Amino acid sequence: MRIVIGSITAVLLLLLQNSNAEIPGCDFFDTVDISKAQRFSNGSYLYEGLLIPAHLTAKYDYKLLADDSKEKVASHVRGCACHLRPCIRFCCPQYQKMNMSVCYGDMSEDELNKHDPFVNVTLSDGSVVRRHFKEDLIVQSDLAKPGCPRMYFMNHELPGNKFTLFENGSLLRHWDNAELSKREYCVQHLSFIGDSIRIAPHFCPLSSEHSRTWKTVAIVISMICIVLTISVYLYVKKLRNLHGKCFICYLASLFLGYLFLLLNVWKYSSHFCVTAGFMGYFSVIAAFFWLSVISLTLWNSFSGNSGWLNRFLPDNPFLAYNVYAWGIPLLMTAITYIADQVVDDENLRPRVGVGKKLLDLHYTLFLRLFIIMGLSWSLEIVSFLLSKKQAWAKAFMVADYFNWSQGTIIFVLFVLRPSTLKLLKERGGPINQVLSSFLAEQD
Ligand SMILES: *[C@@H]1O[C@H](CO)[C@@H](O)[C@H](O)[C@H]1NC(C)=O
Ligand SMILES: *[C@@H]1O[C@H](CO)[C@@H](O)[C@H](O)[C@H]1NC(C)=O
Ligand SMILES: *[C@@H]1O[C@H](CO)[C@@H](O)[C@H](O)[C@H]1NC(C)=O
Ligand SMILES: *[C@@H]1O[C@H](CO)[C@@H](O)[C@H](O)[C@H]1NC(C)=O
Repeated sequence: MRIVIGSITAVLLLLLQNSNAEIPGCDFFDTVDISKAQRFSNGSYLYEGLLIPAHLTAKYDYKLLADDSKEKVASHVRGCACHLRPCIRFCCPQYQKMNMSVCYGDMSEDELNKHDPFVNVTLSDGSVVRRHFKEDLIVQSDLAKPGCPRMYFMNHELPGNKFTLFENGSLLRHWDNAELSKREYCVQHLSFIGDSIRIAPHFCPLSSEHSRTWKTVAIVISMICIVLTISVYLYVKKLRNLHGKCFICYLASLFLGYLFLLLNVWKYSSHFCVTAGFMGYFSVIAAFFWLSVISLTLWNSFSGNSGWLNRFLPDNPFLAYNVYAWGIPLLMTAITYIADQVVDDENLRPRVGVGKKLLDLHYTLFLRLFIIMGLSWSLEIVSFLLSKKQAWAKAFMVADYFNWSQGTIIFVLFVLRPSTLKLLKERGGPINQVLSSFLAEQD
């Protein structure tokens, strides 16, 4: 009896499997729903003027999601249309527009008139052809969207935003040379500034990108710690020597750098983006120069009064340092700004603030260029070089947090040490009592 039940179950399972058989050799993401197409008696379907033979069709009762899991849907017939004619993988129904990763209703008559229905498709032999999305290609619009709530899009008119759409459906993103499959991107009509509507590719943020919340938390804590450190250095007279004053300037530029980084993380306005980009650039370069000044003064004090450098320094070295460490960054920023305005060739332009993606990239590079400690220095340079390789980029996310926490690290290293706390205690005042009890506990 058991054997009979067993075999019946096996047969039933086989039958079940057969009833939603897939098209052999055809990826789900190369199929389209053809249940509304005309069916011939020999089993072929005529879909959008394309004859799909019976062996390239099958019944499906599921929809494959971007992560290859299945979602149950009503049974329908699908055809492997993309093996017969190049497909274009839409995010939403073919005449809808996308705005902030959300599909909106069909385009109006007016929008249809001014909309550009052509895409550049690169054939397997490397030649580029212009194709009408509806007339020359098969539109796939019922595939599951890439699995992220908010997608980036590319505007090919901006520097660093170029892409190549291949005949086989892959999309090459030029800035990181990543080849995205139809699971990872989709295209949709999109309104651009200047009233034009074009078909633009959308894709998910890189998996190695940091969550905005944690990035913000790290940076805000850092900024608070910088303010605390500056206050301590201003409050305690003994710390207000030449090193101390240079250190305060360094911290001030670091604070500004974090501030603009934070604004960049949260602001979307492109006009603001450019200004913030230049201000951030200035702050980071200034921090870098102040760091060099600190090294110089340290080195000079180690080599004693006989240091040859003393002969070249004016009576008021702090003033000279200020001119140097604020002036040169200002000059550099001005030159960058002028170059950005004057140079037309997009490959030569410094591209401050053009395209959010790009700004982030450059910004990170500059921010990464100053690191208090040698470890961080080397880590960061390697990190930047490897940032285009996803696996490595993930490993170096830790280095990024280290960078955003520099203010916190400085606070711990420079303020929360016994000698500084002791100076603070000597200075007296309202925090004296708090500190006394704190130090007493430590003893
Ligand atoms: C199936 O029928 C259609 C319409 O009659 C015809 O165009 C097509 O060639 C046929 N296909 C096969 C494989 O016989
Ligand atoms: C997109 O949506 C935002 C608000 O959700 C709206 O302000 C904006 O005008 C929309 N843009 C287009 C082009 O429809
Ligand atoms: C397609 O190619 C033409 C000619 O090379 C170019 O002017 C146009 O900007 C391209 N369009 C897109 C969307 O890449
Ligand atoms: C699609 O074509 C491009 C260029 O011909 C090739 O580099 C890529 O590997 C192909 N992708 C797939 C999934 O076959």
